[in-house]
Amino acid sequence: MENIKKLAFGTDHAAIEIRDTVKKYLQNMGYEVKDFGFCGQVGCDYPDFAIQVAEVVANKKADKGILICGTGIGMSVAANKVKGIIAAVCWNEDTARLASQHNCANILCLGSRTSTLSEICHRIKIFLNTPFEERHQRRIDKIKKIESCQ
Ligand code: RB5
Repeated sequence: MENIKKLAFGTDHAAIEIRDTVKKYLQNMGYEVKDFGFCGQVGCDYPDFAIQVAEVVANKKADKGILICGTGIGMSVAANKVKGIIAAVCWNEDTARLASQHNCANILCLGSRTSTLSEICHRIKIFLNTPFEERHQRRIDKIKKIESCQ
């Protein structure tokens, strides 16, 4: 099983009320958290945080990334522009597990306006504790091939 120690973490203003609690939750589980978030209440742009987290994960300076915006969608769209990133929006326990097990996602994206704090924490825990299943590698290789042609 993959040994995940370092996490890159980023949020926009939509997650202002939960970001510190989520960060503490990660630290309490023993992860080292590199925090790229926080911009104040308004006027910040989720791609700024998504790209920083994605680059750190792609460069292997963090093992996985956690991004939170209003829905998780904007963060995932932006993070997936970085080569080597598979960022998945997960809206329940099953998608959090399968994003890791089947899709080899290295960034989990969550929505603060579409989920409760406890759902967010639970999904993070599942995502980080579910290993990738090698039998899905062939599909991931096809995704990497698309990426290498761009
Ligand atoms: C910000 O209002 C909101 O658009 C953002 O957090 C996110 O939901 C975008 O996908």
